[in-house]
Amino acid sequence: MTEERLMDKIIDVCLRRGFISQTAEIYGGAGGFYEYGPLGTLMRQKIIDLWRQSFVLDEDRVFEIKGSVLMPESVFQASGHLDSFDDPLVQCEKCKSMFKADELIKKITGKTAEGLPLDDLDELIKENQIACPNCQGGLSKARQFNLMFKTEIGSTGGINGYLRPETAQNIFINFKRLAAFMRNKLPFGIAQTGPSFRNEISPRNFIIRVREFEQMEIEMFYDPEKENEHPRFDEVADLEINIVTREMQEKGWEKPMQVSAGVAVAEGVIPNQYLAYYLAMEAEMMRALGIPDTEFWFRHMQDHEAPHYSIGNFDLEANLSIGHMEIVGNALRTDYDLMKHAKASKSSFEIVVDNKKIVPHVAEPSLGVDRILYTVLEKCFREDERGWTWFQFPTIVAPLEVAVYPLMKKDGLAELAYEIHSELKDAGYLSFYDESGKIGKRYARADEIGIPYCITIDYETKDKYTVTMRDRDSMKQIRIPTEDLEVVLGELMEGESEFDEFSEINKE
Ligand code: ATP
Ligand code: GLY
Repeated sequence: MTEERLMDKIIDVCLRRGFISQTAEIYGGAGGFYEYGPLGTLMRQKIIDLWRQSFVLDEDRVFEIKGSVLMPESVFQASGHLDSFDDPLVQCEKCKSMFKADELIKKITGKTAEGLPLDDLDELIKENQIACPNCQGGLSKARQFNLMFKTEIGSTGGINGYLRPETAQNIFINFKRLAAFMRNKLPFGIAQTGPSFRNEISPRNFIIRVREFEQMEIEMFYDPEKENEHPRFDEVADLEINIVTREMQEKGWEKPMQVSAGVAVAEGVIPNQYLAYYLAMEAEMMRALGIPDTEFWFRHMQDHEAPHYSIGNFDLEANLSIGHMEIVGNALRTDYDLMKHAKASKSSFEIVVDNKKIVPHVAEPSLGVDRILYTVLEKCFREDERGWTWFQFPTIVAPLEVAVYPLMKKDGLAELAYEIHSELKDAGYLSFYDESGKIGKRYARADEIGIPYCITIDYETKDKYTVTMRDRDSMKQIRIPTEDLEVVLGELMEGESEFDEFSEINKE
């Protein structure tokens, strides 16, 4: 019997416990679309909040906007998406299944084929005798397939509209007003989070490749002559990041090189401080989400792999059970988009810097909420001797932070427990109240969805004003005074105290 895939185990928990399910499930599903249930939604929001805090709110010159998801054709004609936002498609001549050619080649040969010309893809398919994975039928020649979703705007039609494939374009087309808001001074960043849509050829791997996904993007505008004068670079210069250079890829690499952001810029490994700043920030965010340093790195994409607007990408890749996956794209978009929109709209997007008119350059971190969330699910999934699976989510991303249980429903314990739960909610904790089932079962249910702490209310709570607190990771239990509960929880969640420290205090 083949071992159940890790992804299948995670999907099973997601379906059963209200994290994620397929869209239109009762009608057979819609390929590439997913619904986030109560727990999935709480986790998504936490990921977005974490990004918003460190990438936007903690910055002085970065502001967030909310743009339209559907935009007229003119936007994407100018941006190049209608002409160039394509993926190579091959079709099985027998069963008619469609595949993204580069992805199929990577799956079979392990070699990256993203961005290669169609002829090269055909050659690789022939050379490696790649057939349809479903029925072994022969494959057609590769052709370009545009990923844009098209619709018509207005009751009489006539105006073509497209769902945005990235949030970035709203920012570029609003550049004049946004620059005026920033008093026409560089550098500044404009952030946006929201859904993007791509008509992926073969959506697959759960929420990793979907047709509607959530992005968190920043377009950071700077003077290219001051590309190494990022105002806050000093704060990240010493942070270590894992990098896979182009040279390493040519030679065949086993382990990324670890280097500080400062040294990486000084030695020309990363082209400038603006891009390096974001790589360091992303690495910090991944660590905070519980993804170990050994499990992700930034790969300098080869020229042919970079998108049409980028002169260089350093994509954050994660080591997932399904292979190495891009989780975040980091692009140097230069003045490509502003120049394209300036020309097409007959506007000027110049800014005066040191008495010179310039069109700013752009560094862009583009984070995908869905892929980050899946990475967290996979890296926090645990199977051990306790007899049930559980998620070791850091509090920062745990969908629920504390569960409150009365040992029994009778003798006023339920009322008392509910009161404590309400107080925890008022204090801002994501608390969950549950009174049904044996206490051991309730602990197992809490572990399964990654609740870090459980509080049990029993007869001693009534008599001695103490509660039992159970730690998900160690399964250890301590008794603490009810009145200390909020403070203890706060210290544990902020990482200011370890669970064992309280254990020691209680033993005395
Ligand atoms: P891939 O090569 O895997 O298709 P991409 O290079 O097209 O990815 P980008 O265009 O750089 O991805 O998009 C930026 C980020 O948006 C990605 O790193 C990812 O997190 C997210 N993203 C892009 N396409 C999808 C998708 N189809 N499903 C889920 N997330 C996506
Ligand atoms: N904004 C980068 C991308 O979505 O491709």
